[in-house]
Amino acid sequence: MRSFTFLTFLLLSISSLFVLAASTGEWTIVQNGTTGITALEVILVSPTLILMMDRVLGDPLQIDGHQAWVELWNLETNTGFALNAITDTFCASGAILSNGTMHRRSALNFPKRTYPPDGDGRQGLRLFGPCDAPDGVGEGCTLFEDPATLHLAVNRWYPSSLRIFDGSLMIIGGTNNATPFYNMFPENSFEFFPKKDNGQVRPSPFLERTVPSNLFPRGFALPDGKVFIVANNQSIIYDVEAKTETILPSLPNGVHVTNPKDGTATLLPLSPPDYIPEVLVCGGSNTSDSIPSANLSSQDPASDQCTRITLTPEGIEQGWIVERMPEGRMMPEMILMPNGQILITDGAGTGYAALDSVGDTIGNSNADHPVLTPVLYDPNAALGDRFSSEGLPNAEIARMYHSGITLTPSGSIFLAGSNPNPGVVENATFNTPIPQPSFHSTLSPTVSGVPKQLAFNQNVTVDVDIPTDLDTSNLQVALMDMGFSSHAFHSSSRLVFMDAELSSNKKSLTFTAPPNNRVFPPGIGYVFVTVDDVTSVGAQVMMGNGANPPVEDQGVPLAA
Ligand SMILES: *[C@@H]1O[C@H](CO)[C@@H](O)[C@H](O)[C@H]1NC(C)=O
Ligand SMILES: *[C@@H]1O[C@H](CO)[C@@H](O)[C@H](O)[C@H]1NC(C)=O
Ligand SMILES: *[C@@H]1O[C@H](CO)[C@@H](O)[C@H](O)[C@H]1NC(C)=O
Ligand SMILES: *[C@@H]1O[C@H](CO)[C@@H](O)[C@H](O)[C@H]1NC(C)=O
Ligand SMILES: *[C@@H]1O[C@H](CO)[C@@H](O)[C@H](O)[C@H]1NC(C)=O
Ligand SMILES: *[C@@H]1O[C@H](CO)[C@@H](O)[C@H](O)[C@H]1NC(C)=O
Ligand SMILES: *[C@@H]1O[C@H](CO)[C@@H](O)[C@H](O)[C@H]1NC(C)=O
Repeated sequence: MRSFTFLTFLLLSISSLFVLAASTGEWTIVQNGTTGITALEVILVSPTLILMMDRVLGDPLQIDGHQAWVELWNLETNTGFALNAITDTFCASGAILSNGTMHRRSALNFPKRTYPPDGDGRQGLRLFGPCDAPDGVGEGCTLFEDPATLHLAVNRWYPSSLRIFDGSLMIIGGTNNATPFYNMFPENSFEFFPKKDNGQVRPSPFLERTVPSNLFPRGFALPDGKVFIVANNQSIIYDVEAKTETILPSLPNGVHVTNPKDGTATLLPLSPPDYIPEVLVCGGSNTSDSIPSANLSSQDPASDQCTRITLTPEGIEQGWIVERMPEGRMMPEMILMPNGQILITDGAGTGYAALDSVGDTIGNSNADHPVLTPVLYDPNAALGDRFSSEGLPNAEIARMYHSGITLTPSGSIFLAGSNPNPGVVENATFNTPIPQPSFHSTLSPTVSGVPKQLAFNQNVTVDVDIPTDLDTSNLQVALMDMGFSSHAFHSSSRLVFMDAELSSNKKSLTFTAPPNNRVFPPGIGYVFVTVDDVTSVGAQVMMGNGANPPVEDQGVPLAA
């Protein structure tokens, strides 16, 4: 069976290795290699490369005689090297645009910074790639910044960035300035990259209502082009074209799900022919926002609540449906897996996000009791029967505040970072672990001949080699965006299943790309074939025409 690996990396030393069998294959934990920065933000930028970013606060990795805070990690060699940046990338977000360029934005210069003296990143815009070095090792890949001419309209620290239907980024909320815990300097507006509205921001009543626990709002591009957003205990659908907010039901039971009370959220896999969107929100805290942070405790239990809503008129009428995780989690991570299941991992059993602000921190950590047991959520199972940790290995390393995670094309999960300290602190409790996955498959399907670029609604025929012991009646073909990981959220992460048919000799597979750029916002995706719950290596594609954003509508509309 193909194995799934958690690649875990430590900034300094630790190594761990687990092998366990699971029904979908073997899960292993491998720690091989050491990142030179804390992986506060993580994004897959090519089939072999991961870009990680931190803040300017003393990471050991060096460049040009000073501290680096951006690192490119090679998944094949388990080594990384530093990239130069001008502004501080502290607590930012990002995504890939419709032309394949990675865009990440907004961060603050922290008072205790060690280098450089300026470099305020709060309006920062940074562009990376596309970087297709022939050897795939990333030599020559650089980050482009020009703070004088390329910047946001306003300061935003702790914003979210989401690729929308026209391949642009929607940049949501954040804070204007450093804030110790709650959002004291809220930037309650949206803006876009490239700019819309002549660069004016769009004020958001929703963000105003969700202060003070509304940092890193969780937004999702819906298959009709609108955007669903959940922040604090409230949710809306935002119509980017009509500029209207439609209020949806609040989250039940007083649970808050955005920073500093980080739960997490995901859009569940979308399936043809109707692509009915459903959102799952898990973890967070039910303590009141009126309690000052000094009166909160690192021992306050995190919420075990998950809530799910179907974004149709009937589903909205029905509201959020509550289910319970096996354990409470603050700062959980949710990873869409190519077979449509959701891996929930990381986080803490008690406390909060952010650092050094509750009454009884553990070292500098606002959180305690790291949750080391991952759990899989099967969205198609019956309510009450969806969570299972069977066969999943326990993590050895606490991954809480300032950690990053992503699925890789090999199907392994890269986990790195965690550092609730104002800088790199040796031997602190919960300090700077950085993981990463290696992996590999033995008897998984292989896919070849996937075109580098796909048009919407295009029928594509590829070659497949499927081990004979796999049951081909259970076949799934997925197009995935791996998202951008920052603060317990994978912005732009997405899985769209595609109709597919195997030839009678089982040697070729024809699948139909998503119907249009609203079902899958145009840009980079990975095609995975799963047979009998065993998944191929993902093939990178440019979905859509690859033009600079904003792109025109492509493909065919969904039937009304
Ligand atoms: C670590 O990764 C490198 C590069 O892929 C590989 O050569 C080496 O065998 C790995 N070591 C372990 C202990 O897995
Ligand atoms: C949502 O949270 C706010 C405080 O942030 C609170 O006033 C309000 O009652 C909550 N709403 C619900 C439905 O729990
Ligand atoms: C916070 O704690 C202080 C000191 O114990 C106490 O005086 C105050 O009433 C508390 N405030 C709230 C809102 O709980
Ligand atoms: C708040 O959440 C905790 C942890 O899940 C739970 O034990 C408690 O009952 C919840 N309180 C309310 C009022 O829902
Ligand atoms: C950190 O802990 C290790 C192992 O206990 C010890 O050898 C080392 O001296 C410690 N380093 C510092 C800076 O305290
Ligand atoms: C793709 O193939 C399906 C199934 O054979 C067919 O119904 C559809 O018309 C084809 N679409 C295009 C754009 O050729
Ligand atoms: C992609 O589009 C962005 C926004 O227009 C632009 O800044 C960037 O240079 C483009 N990338 C490439 C490779 O053309």
